[in-house]
Amino acid sequence: MQDRIRIPCIFTIFGGTGDLTRRKLIPALYNMSVDGLLPDEFMVVCVGRKPLSTQEYRDSLLASVTSHSCYPVRTDIWEWLKERIHYFRMNLPDPDGYSSLKARLDDLDEKAGTQGNRLFYLAVAPSLFEPVILNLHRNRMVTNHGSWQRVVIEKPFGRDLKSAAFLNSVIESVFPPENIFRIDHYLGKEMLRNLMVIRFGNAVFESIWNSRYIDNIQITAAETEGVENRSGYYESSGALRDMLQNHLLQLLALVAMEPPISLDYRSIRDEKVKFLRSLLKMDDEAFRGHVIRGQYGEALLDGGKTVRAYRQEAGIDPESNTETFIALGIQAGNFRWGGMPFYLRTGKRLPKKTTYVVLEFKSMPEILYFKEYSGMQPNLLEIRIQPEEGVSFSFNAKKPGPGNEINTVKMDYCHSCDYENNTPESYERLIADALRNDQTLFTSWEEIEASWSFVDSIARSWEKETVSFPNYIPGTWGPTASDELLARYRHHWWNL
Ligand SMILES: NC(=O)c1ccc[n+]([C@@H]2O[C@H](COP(=O)([O-])OP(=O)(O)OC[C@H]3O[C@@H](n4cnc5c(N)ncnc54)[C@H](OP(=O)(O)O)[C@@H]3O)[C@@H](O)[C@H]2O)c1
Repeated sequence: MQDRIRIPCIFTIFGGTGDLTRRKLIPALYNMSVDGLLPDEFMVVCVGRKPLSTQEYRDSLLASVTSHSCYPVRTDIWEWLKERIHYFRMNLPDPDGYSSLKARLDDLDEKAGTQGNRLFYLAVAPSLFEPVILNLHRNRMVTNHGSWQRVVIEKPFGRDLKSAAFLNSVIESVFPPENIFRIDHYLGKEMLRNLMVIRFGNAVFESIWNSRYIDNIQITAAETEGVENRSGYYESSGALRDMLQNHLLQLLALVAMEPPISLDYRSIRDEKVKFLRSLLKMDDEAFRGHVIRGQYGEALLDGGKTVRAYRQEAGIDPESNTETFIALGIQAGNFRWGGMPFYLRTGKRLPKKTTYVVLEFKSMPEILYFKEYSGMQPNLLEIRIQPEEGVSFSFNAKKPGPGNEINTVKMDYCHSCDYENNTPESYERLIADALRNDQTLFTSWEEIEASWSFVDSIARSWEKETVSFPNYIPGTWGPTASDELLARYRHHWWNL
């Protein structure tokens, strides 16, 4: 259980009528209220364009909380939170609205004793990040004198290194680096934080966590859904920018970084940055064919229902070459991992919604027991991130009986089964950390810079190739080229 936050603040959400606010942020605030985390001196101001009164806005939130909170709605707690939520209507690029917003926040400050502290949450399209930040500055809403003002920025943070660097320079011209919280909600997931404990809290794992004992490491982040209602954003981002640049590389960095000297966020960040910088760039000739792109086509399901191809989805260019799947085999040029492949894949319309890491250990020499006859399998450490959270380790044991047949058996720990409802949702945890001024689970500029530098090398390599889309059927694990990539090195994907 986390401690109550004792710091007064107005939590200002730009994009208060959007999907993120309704599905994640407000339910997270409700969960935090149930857990008794929020201080009495706490206000929420939601900014949107729709013509709504505060009362209408508050009433509209109940359905979101009911559907998306991990707790049932308790009237007393919802009333407590609801009366702290205010709606403010404005057009964000228009500089005129900011002085009224400032007056509204100052007024609430006096009434609620929030002492000028502000957490500005940018739950809006990236094109609005710059105007909002500059208008906050012009209206003297970021002073950091006698109070603090922090900003939380949602992904995507740029679309390549150049645009990300520009955005960062705008934000840093207004907010000091320690008050900038770049959110990657994957980092708030319980199992990602548990990953460090599994690695660094167990001698049996950390001592063999290197390329001498591990044959390959695989990360899979699969979704069953298609592009749904995110066509505008997804068309210009694709799987490379939507998933790989942030979530997958962050997960990989936590799996593969060196042990930090402490749990202080700077120490962890430094190790993640070092690892990300060690990734070999993919536009090198040596890696030709190591990145597979896919786009889902149409499928006829058993019940006669048709799943539309990506190119047929609403708002998508019928000749779109945006990738809905990416798989890659990459390497880090450092002492621990030199020569060992990391395989990463992510995509839409895959068979399961799941995110997991598999460490495949080296096989034993085939002297006493031969794979084909005995049933031997390599040892696997599986770390399941979502929806189920847990860890399992599989090893070989003799099948009872007279022969030498071998069974692969599993030691399994299901974290989400043991702690049902007690593991905080990512956004709950991240909002609490931003209010407490703890940067550990947020992404530093140096990490973003290193990630974009790697991702740009993939984008450059794609400029030299032509693609033939669509190339995979919904409900399968992506294009066959993804399996062929691993088969080239006598590996295969572990589909959990
Ligand atoms: N949704 C998610 O699960 C998710 C997950 C990760 C990251 N993100 C990121 O979070 C951000 C928001 O995503 P979303 O899905 O919530 O988008 P969304 O549903 O389209 O909501 C956009 C919000 O921005 C507001 N807005 C747009 N133009 C405005 C303007 N000129 N003035 C004032 N308000 C304006 C909209 O207000 P009105 O509706 O009142 O016009 C709405 O509240 C994006 O950067 C997205 O990439 C979203």
